Amino acid sequence: MLIIEKKDHVVKISLNRPKKMNALNTEIIRKLADTLEELDRDSHVRAIVLTGNEKAFAAGADINELAATKPVEFVLKQFFRDWERIRTISKPLIAAVNGYALGGGNELAMCCDMIIASETAKFGQPEILLGVIPGAGGTQRLTKAIGRAKAMEMVLTGKTFSAAEALAWGLINRVTAPDEVENEALKLAHEIAAKPPVAVRLAKQAINKAQELPLDHGLNFEQNAFYLLFSSEDQQEGMQAFLEKRTPRFRGK
Ligand code: CAA
Repeated sequence: MLIIEKKDHVVKISLNRPKKMNALNTEIIRKLADTLEELDRDSHVRAIVLTGNEKAFAAGADINELAATKPVEFVLKQFFRDWERIRTISKPLIAAVNGYALGGGNELAMCCDMIIASETAKFGQPEILLGVIPGAGGTQRLTKAIGRAKAMEMVLTGKTFSAAEALAWGLINRVTAPDEVENEALKLAHEIAAKPPVAVRLAKQAINKAQELPLDHGLNFEQNAFYLLFSSEDQQEGMQAFLEKRTPRFRGK
């Protein structure tokens, strides 16, 4: 269901249900949340790339599973709990999107911190065509990412949108040729992995707070994180290296 490859401080996770367009059933989401939490605890890992295959990043939640689920079962299973576990991973996550990122697929990409997409990628929230609405952040995180007008259009029409449109709206970071998406995402992951990891984690948290908190609380969080970093060895190394005009060697402490 997942293919996991490690190189230096970067891990690539590939969703692997090719016959089902990487449809996200409970099992694959649970496995992904378990894997990400394990990597979050592994001090050797500094950045993670999440990808699919050339046809689909993921074509959404598994409709076969959804169609057979009763309302009370969603409650009992805590259906979206594993999505929350993915959303709260503290290390940087980069989505490399080829093909379809629809419904839960787009929502999963939005759980990541940055999205690199192929010029042939297609984004959408087609749940309305199934008689429902997005359930894993597609009305909330999408609206914060691209604004109310465009989120309305995506969610209310269920249409798919191109990578160029997603880029223009600020949903994704950059667009590449289809065979370059993974490399581009891995390059970015390695670049971030070379930075001081504690500062990277706190920076991620602080930026996410900007979407969750009123400004004064967000600024307060940022200042406290800034102060905290002065207790890290990497802060001393970073500033000493600058003063000595040499390249810093960050150790993640
Ligand atoms: N769930 C379950 N199976 C899916 C699926 C999904 N979301 N998406 C694709 N599949 C399956 C198809 O049923 C098909 O299986 P079989 O070969 O066994 O029939 C296989 O994947 C290949 O798909 P298609 O034959 O349909 O391939 P295509 O190239 O003609 O079309 C597609 C590709 C446009 C992605 C189309 O499959 C599609 O529209 N998929 C559904 C997209 C969707 O509605 N996603 C939202 C799901 S609801 C959701 O995500 C809720 C939420 O917010 C959490």
